[in-house]
Amino acid sequence: MSTETAGSADGGVAQSSNTLSVTDNRTGRSYEIPIEDETIRSIDLRQIRVNDDDFGLMTYDPAFMNTASCRSAVTYIDGDKGILEYRGYPIEQLAEKSSYLEVAYLLIHGELPTEAQLKEWTFQITTHTFVHENVKEFMQGFRYDAHPMGMLLAGVGALSTFYPEAQQIKDPELRYIQIIRLLAKMPTLAAFAYRHNRGMPYVYPDNDLSYAGNFLGMLFKIAELKYQPDPRLEHALDVLFILHADHEQNCSTSAVRGVGSSQVDPYSSMAAGVAALYGPLHGGANEAVLRMLRRIETKDNVPAFVEGVKAGNERLMGFGHRVYKNYDPRAKIIRTAANEVFEVTGTNPLLDIALELERIALEDDYFVSRKLYPNVDFYSGLIYEALGMPAEMFPVLFAIGRTSGWIAQWLEMIEDPEQRISRPRQIYTGGRGREYVGIGQR
Ligand code: CMC
Repeated sequence: MSTETAGSADGGVAQSSNTLSVTDNRTGRSYEIPIEDETIRSIDLRQIRVNDDDFGLMTYDPAFMNTASCRSAVTYIDGDKGILEYRGYPIEQLAEKSSYLEVAYLLIHGELPTEAQLKEWTFQITTHTFVHENVKEFMQGFRYDAHPMGMLLAGVGALSTFYPEAQQIKDPELRYIQIIRLLAKMPTLAAFAYRHNRGMPYVYPDNDLSYAGNFLGMLFKIAELKYQPDPRLEHALDVLFILHADHEQNCSTSAVRGVGSSQVDPYSSMAAGVAALYGPLHGGANEAVLRMLRRIETKDNVPAFVEGVKAGNERLMGFGHRVYKNYDPRAKIIRTAANEVFEVTGTNPLLDIALELERIALEDDYFVSRKLYPNVDFYSGLIYEALGMPAEMFPVLFAIGRTSGWIAQWLEMIEDPEQRISRPRQIYTGGRGREYVGIGQR
């Protein structure tokens, strides 16, 4: 609790180490506000009023540039040092030693599973991959060229109508089964969306395959009786899912938490996450990177393109991050994974343009002074393309990986006694008390 202390800024205010002393120069009153975890509670400012009718002081923070919206133990990022950890484990170790389903378990449960727990978890997710035939039918109802991310968004939201018990979010057992279903069915919906776009029959899941292998099968199986994914590509895709699994309070996770705070079912909350991820400044960025690289066409055109970016004509997609002011650790891992994939598929000619862009940008004062480094999306699109995915599928792949993070954050939110329905304040800038004028008199 904060306290009000009478007196001026420097007079008579009791100082203790973990507080902030604030003087309201409108009234001359001083206040002592507790600091906890390097943070003050915005609500503690409400007591700062000019008079009794005053609503109290608020903070203005569009885009949450400096406001923590929750306490979270899921993901740690140090943007200045380029550190990313899931539940305390460095992303580099997880990408090298773990698997996506193990990482999903870690994110959601908070601990790495034992062998038996991982076996059971994998079995559960692998055997819930099928969707109701009606889901397939309504996916077929989309226009032939529907964007797969739009289809995924609708598909995930629609799952709530197939599992109405999902509304009972306070019931841990019911919650658990929805979590399994979400992780299991996301790749199925994503693959259906892809096949729809190609005018190809949908492929049912193959529960003998790994999470990534089954997804590749549902995408690319043609007439073979049994699809056998290339283990190197299967592994690369699994690593990409790990790298995308969580990223603390990003735009889509905030959307999941915000929508979930209304206590709606998890499918609807995840649909909000997919919607947020669809945007070009978030999950759509890797698609935008590929389009940008294609437009640049050759290495020789890179300097002119960079000049255009510096002149403010456009952004260098795949560069810059709200949190990382250093090389995104995921981009480093992806660069290595890209080389492994290219050993199988042959080099993507756009890679040369990307490398040249990175080289020039990292030497240029415009990017250096603004701390703009490659982010996760700069190289991921190149791998996805090498794997045979069209650009429209890139945010869909991001969504599959991010589902585990959204779930972990959603769970944390609904179990957090401090969380209530999300409801920001506003600074009202419109007119007041206007007299309605009939349409004929306007
Ligand atoms: N190209 C050129 N200039 C840039 C870029 C860029 N990619 N990103 C930021 N800047 C400049 C920006 O113009 C501004 O310059 P000034 O101070 O002169 O006005 C300065 O850098 C700060 O930019 P900002 O827009 O205030 O930064 P932000 O934190 O609001 O935006 C961002 C972060 C990721 C939206 C932005 O860097 C961007 O648009 N990047 C390109 C899109 C992209 O790659 N997005 C993927 C993000 S990573 C995956 C994910 O989280 O979804």
